[in-house]
Amino acid sequence: MKTRKPRIGHGYDLHRLEIRHPEGPGRPFILAGVTLEHPKGPVSHSDGDAAFHAVTDALLGALGEEDIGQLFPDDAPEWADGESSIFLKEASRRVLDAGFEIGNLDVTIICQRPKISPHKNEMKRKLAENLGTPVEDVNIKAKTHEEVDAVGEGRAVEVHAVVLLLPRHEE
Ligand code: CDP
Ligand code: ZN
Repeated sequence: MKTRKPRIGHGYDLHRLEIRHPEGPGRPFILAGVTLEHPKGPVSHSDGDAAFHAVTDALLGALGEEDIGQLFPDDAPEWADGESSIFLKEASRRVLDAGFEIGNLDVTIICQRPKISPHKNEMKRKLAENLGTPVEDVNIKAKTHEEVDAVGEGRAVEVHAVVLLLPRHEE
C-alpha cells in the first residue's frame, strides 16, 4: 500500500452457539484465545473464535484486502478445526509487510452468557501476543443483548472490532 496516512478497519463476526460435544455440535467456547466454561460453544469450521475472526477482518479491512472468508475459505480442508491464531498472525504479517503498525484495537464482545469481564485481561494478553503489539494498545468491552434476539437468547455470540493502523516510522 502506497499511502502514508493512518488507516481504520472494522471487523464483525457471529457464531451460532450450540450444546457442546458430544451431546451437540458445539465446540469448546474459545473467545480471544481464552477457553470459557459454558455448556454451549460455537459451531464452526475452524475453532470458532469469533473475536480472533473479527480482529482479523478489521486488520484486513484497514489494509483494503480480501476478507477472512476469502483468504481462508471455510470449505478448505486445511482450515478445518484450525486454530484461529493462524488467521490473526497472517493478517498481522500483512500489516507489517504493508509498512504499518497497530495504533490501537478496540473489541466489543456481545453474548448473554458467560460473563466476559473476569477474562478480559487474559483476552487482551492473547490478542496482544498474537498481534505482536503492546497490551496497552488492546481493549476489550463486553455487553449482554438484554435477553432479546438470538444473541440475547444465548443462541449466538457476536464480536465487533475496530483497529487503527499507523504508518511505521522508517528507522
Ligand atoms: O448495563 P448495560 O445494559 O449497558 O450493559 P449490559 O449488557 O447489562 O452489561 C453490563 C456489564 O457486564 C458490561 O459493561 C460488561 O462489563 C459486563 N458483561 C460481561 O462481563 N459479560 C457479558 N457477557 C456481558 C456483559
Ligand atoms: Zn468466525
